[in-house]
Amino acid sequence: MRTRISALFILLAARIEALTLGEDDVVALMATVACEVHHSDPRFDWTGFYRVTEPGLLKIGPYQGSHGCLVIPFGKGVCGTAAKTGKTQIVHNVDDFPGHIACSSSTRSELVIPVRDGSGAIIGVLDIDSDRPDAFTDEDATALSAILDNVFAR
Ligand code: SME
Repeated sequence: MRTRISALFILLAARIEALTLGEDDVVALMATVACEVHHSDPRFDWTGFYRVTEPGLLKIGPYQGSHGCLVIPFGKGVCGTAAKTGKTQIVHNVDDFPGHIACSSSTRSELVIPVRDGSGAIIGVLDIDSDRPDAFTDEDATALSAILDNVFAR
């Protein structure tokens, strides 16, 4: 299982690298990453970005899946917690996360990773939601963080 996931992430990273090489428009990059990540794994039922549009505020960015909430203040929900703390959030069961924002009632687990630019500033978060309980692992977080750094902090 571990080997299979690793191989998928290596292929995903290579595909995203090839597709985004030479591009520096953040929305174009987010749209491409959201699409590629979303379609890379059947565990991912909603995949997208929330962008920091003003201090302390996230707004919806490019995503794949059903509609997402438009605005999330820092500190609210899983996304706002990741943005406020700068730390990746793996939520094995959304019912156990106080203040979880339920954009879709089918979501059972989530992975939210802060996105940093080349200066280290947080420009948004990548949110991946799964309809499966306990869908995300530390390996997912590590591999996807490396992909995000390669695209947005280069
Ligand atoms: N569940 C997220 C909100 C975003 S939607 O799921 C797309 C949260 O608690 O931050």
